[in-house]
Amino acid sequence: MIKPYYQEEEFSLFHGDALKILKQLHNIKFDLIYVDPPYLLSNDGITCQSGKMVSVNKGNWDKSMGFDEDLKSIDSWIKACKEVLKEDGSIWVSGTLHNIYKVGYLLEKNGYDIINDIIWYKPNAPPNLSCKYFTHSHEIVLWARKSRESHHTFNYGEMKVWNNPKDKLKNKDKQMRSVWSIPLIPKKEKEFGKHPTQKPLELLNRIITSSSNEGDLVLDPFTGSGTTGIASSILKRKFIGIDSNKEYLDVAIKRFQDERKSRLLFSPESKNQIMKYI
Ligand SMILES: C[S@@+](CC[C@H](N)C(=O)[O-])C[C@H]1O[C@@H](n2cnc3c(N)ncnc32)[C@H](O)[C@@H]1O
Repeated sequence: MIKPYYQEEEFSLFHGDALKILKQLHNIKFDLIYVDPPYLLSNDGITCQSGKMVSVNKGNWDKSMGFDEDLKSIDSWIKACKEVLKEDGSIWVSGTLHNIYKVGYLLEKNGYDIINDIIWYKPNAPPNLSCKYFTHSHEIVLWARKSRESHHTFNYGEMKVWNNPKDKLKNKDKQMRSVWSIPLIPKKEKEFGKHPTQKPLELLNRIITSSSNEGDLVLDPFTGSGTTGIASSILKRKFIGIDSNKEYLDVAIKRFQDERKSRLLFSPESKNQIMKYI
């Protein structure tokens, strides 16, 4: 078996191309997969960040290779994920208009059954500088089960009483709807380094809580700064993440070590252990 770049407790990171690594992990089956793939939107355009005009380019990994090549590339990771997903498992894929319609088409073509298309609404999205179209203020997150026959996990009750800590009354004992209002990533989640497309922990918190259980194994094949892994660790899920960029994996490691430190410091077991020495 291939050696992880980092492993501690039930949190493992692999460095390299997702397709190659997944082939070598073929004996492992996952309960839940979250994919935050390249959105293919780095087309030399401009956007606004903290009031400044900046390039939209995220890196070479995010460049489109043209319609047909993009379809082929998306198809290959969708197939690879299906190979390693348990029969009753489910997959989430984030995207925008640049990639998500290709993703939806290919999920169905590969036999997945789309359950929901979640709108992640960003109440504080940056303004649109060109003033030639509506301001992008949402992303789409597709949720699909492996097939129509799959008995996927949905923690309906937990979602019904979901308490957003910033807005305690929101969603209190009401069915959770498919539009999720979650602000852009707060500064404190970037304290260990920057990733250009880092997702807010709150988004992964909802995804993992709703569609997996404690002890389940979660995969993120394009893990970047490890947001899925951090949420998995907090929620007591096992985690495997892959990224082709070591710099991002190093941010993920620092984030995990910080989360682990506070978990050990504040857990009841560790309090008992600390008491032994006082
Ligand atoms: C949209 S970002 C993921 C961000 C992540 N969700 C987070 O919160 O930090 C996509 C990631 O895919 C990685 N990537 C691109 N091509 C890859 C490949 N072929 N294999 C593995 N990782 C890849 C990039 O380095 C980038 O970090």
